[in-house]
Amino acid sequence: MRTPFIAGNWKMNGSRELVERFGRQVTSAALPEGVSAALMVPFPYLEAAVKTFEQGPLVVGAQTLNDQPSGAFTGEVSGGMLAELGVRYVLVGHSERRALFHEDEAAVLSRVRAALATGLVPVLCLGETLEEREAERTEAVVLGQLEAVLDGLEADQRQRLVVAYEPVWAIGTGRTASPEQAQAVHEVIRARLGRYSASLAAEMQLLYGGSMKASNAAELLAQPDIDGGLVGGASLQVDDFLAICQSAG
Ligand code: PGA
Repeated sequence: MRTPFIAGNWKMNGSRELVERFGRQVTSAALPEGVSAALMVPFPYLEAAVKTFEQGPLVVGAQTLNDQPSGAFTGEVSGGMLAELGVRYVLVGHSERRALFHEDEAAVLSRVRAALATGLVPVLCLGETLEEREAERTEAVVLGQLEAVLDGLEADQRQRLVVAYEPVWAIGTGRTASPEQAQAVHEVIRARLGRYSASLAAEMQLLYGGSMKASNAAELLAQPDIDGGLVGGASLQVDDFLAICQSAG
């Protein structure tokens, strides 16, 4: 059984005060039964977020990690450090990391491995650019990104991932994929998971991301292969975030 999962990605936004505001307003009663939710906050706010949500209902995630356990990598943070703080999830392969920080397929795979090795749940992000969509390469790009990771993992490791489909043209643009467009890609992803194993296809949580907001979440989340959302801009407002969580219930 796949449970609905809404993850907020603050990117390089937010403040300690915003963590506290979420802490005051996001109570167990504010989340619908059976929906789990996470906040991926910038490194400096992780500890406060973990403490704030020690008793739930949110779990806390980071937005990236280095693939090495320790060493001379000035400015970097390892999976072990995140796990020690009580962080549970980590985004890997977000399109901003791929495009702006030059993380290629090998870098994405090694970060997924590093996350798994430290007990974190990697949220693997996949998605095509507008140019790729217009060239009808969406499936090839998304499945290529998926296989580049899955082929490098053992079967039991694959079962511990969450996957987020985020069309790059929909991220931060206000231009959401239609429910049909999103479902079509999710269906293709799930079918490809079935080549690895039936249980992987049945159990993997597939999130949609890209301008998800309170006004469009319900119809996206109603699609059979969309199990949740990865929410950027709308996760910076408690009310919007909670409204999206409500739509998942
Ligand atoms: P957005 O970002 O909701 O602001 O489009 C989504 C993401 O990048 O995860």
